[in-house]
Amino acid sequence: MLRARIVGTGSYAPEKVVTNDELAAQLAEINVETSDEWIRTRTGIAQRHFAPEGEDASDMAAAAGRSALQMAGIEAKDLDLIVVGTVTADMPMPACAAFVQHKIGATCPAFDLSAACAGSIYALKVAEQFIRGGGAKNVLVVGVELLSRILDWHDRTTCVLFGDAAGAMVLRAESGEQGVISCRLATDGALTDILKIPGGGSKHPLNQETVDRRLGYVVMNGREVYRTAVRALSETMLTTLKESGIGIDDLHWVVPHQANIRIVDTVFERLNIPKSKAVLNIEKYGNTSSASVPVTLDEGVRDGRIREGHLVGLMAIGAGMSWGSALVRW
Ligand SMILES: CC(C)(COP(=O)(O)OP(=O)(O)OC[C@H]1O[C@@H](n2cnc3c(N)ncnc32)[C@H](O)[C@@H]1OP(=O)(O)O)[C@@H](O)C(=O)NCCC(=O)NCCS
Repeated sequence: MLRARIVGTGSYAPEKVVTNDELAAQLAEINVETSDEWIRTRTGIAQRHFAPEGEDASDMAAAAGRSALQMAGIEAKDLDLIVVGTVTADMPMPACAAFVQHKIGATCPAFDLSAACAGSIYALKVAEQFIRGGGAKNVLVVGVELLSRILDWHDRTTCVLFGDAAGAMVLRAESGEQGVISCRLATDGALTDILKIPGGGSKHPLNQETVDRRLGYVVMNGREVYRTAVRALSETMLTTLKESGIGIDDLHWVVPHQANIRIVDTVFERLNIPKSKAVLNIEKYGNTSSASVPVTLDEGVRDGRIREGHLVGLMAIGAGMSWGSALVRW
């Protein structure tokens, strides 16, 4: 049976680091009050990376992609498909993936996919299906977000949570035990209101009025998102395990979406997974949306925690609400 094996991972974060104290000081200048203490205790975030002017999402995605290709030991021209999960593409059209394709020197079809923070899991599923169906042998999956450009600095309930980064995976068709064992996706469109960027699309297009109404920024009902995340992530991981006939104790590592450490803690408690099995880096990056899972996975692979033969669980949730999980044999 053909499997999609993850043969390379890569990540990139802009050089500039902004600590909670630095962010609090910057926000104080526009009369927005927050503190390192509040951010750390409520979210687990200590700092985030912000891209400088002139750096585009596709630059970050290309950097992460190149690094994943290098680990995989293949050239960009060997790719059959590029799928980029993002809600912060360089521009509404063309796709961020087209810029990435050109920047890394690939020639294959390339497209974006919009599933917010679940973007990397959705893209992984697409890649896996292409590979299993015989439509592609080598696929580059990228999650990239440049959220600092679409945060409302006057809204302290959102602007302290997010950061910029890109993460990538190269998947290759192989027969054998290694690769994606199962990948589940879910969407509840009744919850479109609790996390969104209302403006800039066709409903409220970019114009003076929508800019004045500040519709181009992330808005969120934090408590509802929190509740949904705990419920959905617990359920999707349990179902994926059950469907695959794999017990929780068999997992070596779980790479959760890094949105809030308290969400991770609660999900792990509910599922009875020891916290020592979590790969975490929220403290350093904040929530990097679709980049979060691949950036964290890359860290776990490069520092030697995730090794050949390990069973790894991935899970993420974002606007939609959209969520998903995957089980991967490394
Ligand atoms: C956003 C979130 C951290 C807020 O934490 P919370 O414990 O629910 O906090 P609340 O919203 O109840 O706010 C508590 C108080 O802190 C205040 N507060 C909110 N943001 C603050 C900030 N950055 N700094 C200081 N105070 C803040 C609120 O105004 C509120 O004050 P009040 O009690 O005087 O009204 C939390 O709801 C969360 O993580 N939600 C999920 C977000 C998420 O993961 N989004 C991405 C999903 S992909």
